[in-house]
Parts: sequence; structure tokens; C-alpha cells
Amino acid sequence: MSSNLKPQLSLQNIEKSYDSQGKKVQVLSNFDMDVYESEFISIFGPNGCGKSTLLHLIAGIIDSDEGTISIKSNAEDVISIGIVFQNYDKSLLPWRTCLDNIGLPLEAENRFSKKERRKRSFKILEELDIDLPLDSYPYQMSGGQKQLTCIARAMIRRPSILLLDEPFASLDYQTRISMQEILQDIWGKTNVTTIFISHEIDEAIYLADRVLLLTSRPATVASWYEVPLSRPRKLEMLSAEPYVKLRTDVLNRFRSEVGK
Ligand SMILES: Nc1ncnc2c1ncn2[C@@H]1O[C@H](COP(=O)(O)OP(=O)(O)OP(=O)(O)O)[C@@H](O)[C@H]1O
Ligand SMILES: [Mg+2]
Repeated sequence: MSSNLKPQLSLQNIEKSYDSQGKKVQVLSNFDMDVYESEFISIFGPNGCGKSTLLHLIAGIIDSDEGTISIKSNAEDVISIGIVFQNYDKSLLPWRTCLDNIGLPLEAENRFSKKERRKRSFKILEELDIDLPLDSYPYQMSGGQKQLTCIARAMIRRPSILLLDEPFASLDYQTRISMQEILQDIWGKTNVTTIFISHEIDEAIYLADRVLLLTSRPATVASWYEVPLSRPRKLEMLSAEPYVKLRTDVLNRFRSEVGK
């Protein structure tokens, strides 16, 4: 990445701890990260190291104890971040249809009528080429459909940055593969800067421009890896030499990290 480009997202010297039963638990320490416009970054790291905390800090859901997080705004000078969580069942309102769940973030702005929210929800689905049962309630939808609803909802305000926290972890293998393709397609269409947490190394590499490997808690940067694969990604790339080498490098470093 060119060093004279200003990053879209920059984290510097982040420190974050939680109080747990009167004890201080340091979760992120001396954490720096730069992400550039339109990049797809995957984050991979040991269990409980602080991955979700990192995403929540970027989203502004929680505050850091120290350090700075700078985000460059998009063309309309609006900083907007979309976030997708692992647990789609907890993320969707069960009493709302698919379509009315997608329009939810617009309600917070208090300036859109129900009709306008629906219009915009249709529009984002059309733009992203996502097919969903719009009148169904969450209990009537499959896991994949529910998570796609969450992704469409995260995209409705045309965010500068899309954050995904293990979005496909609860899905079966077949659905997961098709969701990876859909996410790749959405990213290709919108060029939204994307930060994707995954416990699955193949998925993490397959989708990303760069992979960030974290250390055990307190998390800091263990290593960055450039993914040497062309786009669009194809499944057959997973058996090619550059991919296999990168996967081995990441996993070796990961093992040494968790073995510490
Ligand atoms: N609100 C909180 N209060 C106290 N401790 C917390 C809180 N949130 C997270 N933790 C602790 O901070 C550490 C990091 O949590 P976090 O959820 O960020 O890790 P993670 O890498 O996302 O974990 P996982 O691999 O399970 O997804 C864990 O030990 C967790 O128990
Ligand atoms: Mg997590």
C-alpha cells in the first residue's frame, strides 16, 4: 500500500481494558492499524484475544482508554459505519419483516417516512443484487437469509466502512460458501472498505487483500500478510502454490502465538 496515501481508518496506540470482578483485564495494548479506502481486511487471531472489542471500538460502540481512532469521511462528508454481528437472531427484530428490518438504521435519523424507508430498502437490495423474502419474519427465514438481511441493513446508509464480526460462523458449510461469494460480490460492486473477522483461515484469506494476525490477549499486531491472489477470487485458487504458502505461514505464526 502506498505510504503517501492517507488511510481511511487509522488506529494509533490503542489501549483497552475491562473491569472483570474487580480485576483489570487488558484486551488491546499498543495497538496500531491503518486501513486504506476500498481495502478488504480479514482479522484472524486466538480465541478471546480482543477481536470483537477492536470492532466495537472502530464502530464507536465503546471507547478506548487511550489512543486515537481517525476515520476519513466519504464524499458527502458523512462518517458512517455498518456493522454485522455473528448472531443474526439477536440482531434482527423478530416482530418486523425482512424489509422493515433492513430499513431500521434510517429510523434513527428520524427524517424518513415508512414509505421512504421501504423505498430505500428495496433500492439497496436491488443495487446489491440480493434476493430475499421481503414479507417474511425472521422466524420464517433461513440462517443465510437472516444474515443477508443484516448485511443489507448494514449497507443501507452507504457506509464508508463495513465491519463484520464472524458473520458466517453459525451457518452451514454450503450456505457459508455462497455467502462468501455474495460478500465478495457486494464488496466488488460498492468498493466499501471492509473489515472482516473470521475464525476460519481459508475464508479469511480467500476474501481479503490483507490479513491481520493478532497476538493472544492483550491483542496487538502479530503480523500483516498481503494476499497474492488476483480478483475475482475463485475456489480453485485455494489449491495453488501462493495460497498454500501463505496459509502455512499464517498458521505457523498463529500456532506459535497460541502456544506462548
Ligand atoms: N464487557 C466486557 N466486560 C468484561 N470483560 C469483557 C467484556 N467484553 C469482553 N470481555 C473480555 O475481553 C476479552 C476479549 O473479548 P473479545 O470478545 O473482544 O474477544 P474475541 O477475540 O472477539 O473473542 P472470540 O474469539 O470469542 O470471538 C475476553 O477475555 C472477554 O471475556
Ligand atoms: Mg469475538
